[in-house]
Amino acid sequence: MATDEPSQTRWSFLEFKTFYDAKFGRKKLPEEDVSNKDQPEDGSSNGNNGDVNNNSSPVTNQDGNTALANGNVIREKPKKSMFPPFESAETRTLAESLSRDIIRGNPNIKWESIKGLENAKKLLKEAVVMPIKYPTYFNGLLTPWKGILLFGPPGTGKTMLAKAVATECNTTFFNISASSVVSKWRGDSEKLIRVLFDLARHHAPSTIFLDEIDAIISQRGGEGRSEHEASRRLKTELLIQMDGLQKTNELVFVLAATNLPWELDAAMLRRLEKRILVPLPDPEARRGMFEMLIPSQPGDEPLPHDVLVEKSEGYSGSDIRILCKEAAMQPLRRTLAILEDREDVVPEDELPKIGPILPEDIDRALSNTRPSAHLHAHLYDKFNDDYGSQILK
Ligand SMILES: Nc1ncnc2c1ncn2[C@@H]1O[C@H](COP(=O)(O)OP(=O)(O)OP(=O)(O)O)[C@@H](O)[C@H]1O
Ligand SMILES: [Mg+2]
Repeated sequence: MATDEPSQTRWSFLEFKTFYDAKFGRKKLPEEDVSNKDQPEDGSSNGNNGDVNNNSSPVTNQDGNTALANGNVIREKPKKSMFPPFESAETRTLAESLSRDIIRGNPNIKWESIKGLENAKKLLKEAVVMPIKYPTYFNGLLTPWKGILLFGPPGTGKTMLAKAVATECNTTFFNISASSVVSKWRGDSEKLIRVLFDLARHHAPSTIFLDEIDAIISQRGGEGRSEHEASRRLKTELLIQMDGLQKTNELVFVLAATNLPWELDAAMLRRLEKRILVPLPDPEARRGMFEMLIPSQPGDEPLPHDVLVEKSEGYSGSDIRILCKEAAMQPLRRTLAILEDREDVVPEDELPKIGPILPEDIDRALSNTRPSAHLHAHLYDKFNDDYGSQILK
């Protein structure tokens, strides 16, 4: 509709104005007086315009609603600004650096590309994905879990699962790892956590993904006693902020991952209410990974996936990836050997094709790689028995 068009323009102006006011204080822009002269007084053309109407100074209250001189209150907020109001320039700087950890593009990890882990996927969908998609069902006693812990041996897909949640939910996803805490933390660890949660609430629904949470809460920052003190303050603030989440209806989830769950103390575990084991892949999952990474090519000798599945007992997902890479390297090595014998550099369009992976390549890869995580698998099972969220039937 033609009448809709000016309002579009007006909204981008509004966004700019909000930004301008926040940055430079409330100064009047030259355009402000003339921009909306032709608007109806009640702002009825789309229900939410007119807040710079009447040449009167509208007052924006705490909820972000705008009270007009004529007594009307505009309830609908314009598109959210990047940051909530902060009390100091320092917190704003922290917020700016934290917002670089927001995954903006789609991480594009699909549930199907994560093999096995059916139980973990089911629990995650129920705990995070559905409450974001259908918030109506999740209230009262059924308010969503606010703290979720993914634990399991290294390289089993915990980070992948979190990224699948980010892909599926399309919400604001804060990817906070121990390294990002260290790089952004300039002494005031608890301030960083506070700003992080402020930002997450501002952008709700959002997910705060604390990867390697064991390292974050035992983070070392300085020397001697202050190390300990700083790490204690960070942890306390995290506990306080997570408590805050339980009490509100805002959809802010904390999703944490660790391969040392027993390093988390009781207070942290209590707040990570839903604890999901991400175990080593079972035979079916391993088969899925082999078929995905080194599929048998039509016309070539079929690869012995059965043997691979059998011999990779105790391998983690990332071990399997390394094994497949090792197998796929062999045909490349053969091709490179041919090229090495040639004295001239072969032009790109004349390069020989890389041959197929042969069954003996698989044998060699198997003898060259070792599982890395199976020795401690029983510890995770024990932790799961004691604290884990059990399988859904
Ligand atoms: N279930 C799986 N399906 C497919 N690939 C997997 C799976 N598990 C692990 N992988 C492979 O292993 C790699 C490492 O996975 P990821 O980073 O998610 O492990 P992690 O559990 O977060 O490990 P860590 O505890 O060391 O952080 C992935 O990039 C992927 O290639
Ligand atoms: Mg990880």
